[in-house]
Amino acid sequence: MVDLNKLVRENVIKLTPYSCARDEFKGKTGIFLDANENPYGNLNRYPDPYQRELKTAISEVKGIEEKKIFLGNGSDEIIDLCFRVFCNPGVDKALTFTPTYGMYGVSASVNDVEVVKIPLTDSFQIDLKKAEPRFSDKNLKLVFICSPNNPTANSMNYPDVEYIITKFKGVVVIDEAYIDFSEKPSFIKLVNKYPNLIVMQTFSKALGLASVRVGMAFSNPAIIQYLNKLKPPYNISAINQKAALRKLGQIEQYQSQVLRIKKERERISVLLSKMSTVEKVYPSDANFILAKVKNANYIYNALVNRNIIIRNRTNLVENCLRITIGKKSENDQLIRALKSISI
Ligand SMILES: Cc1ncc(COP(=O)(O)O)c(C=O)c1O
Repeated sequence: MVDLNKLVRENVIKLTPYSCARDEFKGKTGIFLDANENPYGNLNRYPDPYQRELKTAISEVKGIEEKKIFLGNGSDEIIDLCFRVFCNPGVDKALTFTPTYGMYGVSASVNDVEVVKIPLTDSFQIDLKKAEPRFSDKNLKLVFICSPNNPTANSMNYPDVEYIITKFKGVVVIDEAYIDFSEKPSFIKLVNKYPNLIVMQTFSKALGLASVRVGMAFSNPAIIQYLNKLKPPYNISAINQKAALRKLGQIEQYQSQVLRIKKERERISVLLSKMSTVEKVYPSDANFILAKVKNANYIYNALVNRNIIIRNRTNLVENCLRITIGKKSENDQLIRALKSISI
């Protein structure tokens, strides 16, 4: 059994969080003379610090209780908060499966936390034999699993992930930023089964609100309370809460966009795989494709010269490019440009 009180930093357990005006009085009506706001205008009031209306809507869409939801200023804020809740700077460690999303490492460095990097297998799966011996390290507090993974685009094997959650006595964070593009099941249901699990999703990808900055964490209520304790009081603006709420009322529109993107992903994968400059197109559960090419640097620069910007990932996976699926017309331009490049 995981003992949360042993995992959370002592100063965080002892911390008395800032109590803001909207914390103390939760009513919606009245004469508000409590928060030193300007009484004029329509954006003059501080937002709900706990985003209750938005969480009610998310709870219905995701089928999870409101008390198991935390919202951050993007998933990136949640990643940082995980380090601050669980890892003592200069002492504790986190484990990642590489190559993966860069913010786990950056956030770790910001918090002075050492990262244990376990390379994924040749098929970009978790190497349990290499990972498991590290779980006994008493300073290892967090394991990050990105599924579907950025930049490799594949999902991790479900039983491997569940095995880690049961064996590791720290907290497992599963980043599901790209889950809506995958046919594989989400790990969100496991939140009700395992108290040491945090599943993250975001409004930035399939929901199409990257500029709005709303990330979601699903976990047991005790972990949610610790995240709430450390977050800045008004971490999600009223405008952003409204935009996210509106989006949840347009589920059909978002589902049809996801279908269109997935269809384009399959079309572009086939076209790419036929090109002489492309050596391998990896299967994708995300809204991007990872492709191994003859010379990633050359092709990347040649595309930039044609005003087409993709991601050169050769430093992470040799000679690999990461291509986001755009609109059909944009993807057609990419294919035309690639055909005009010879090595
Ligand atoms: C795996 C992964 N997680 C999280 C994020 C960031 O999400 P957010 O916009 O919610 O901060 C990204 C962005 O590219 C990502 O690739």
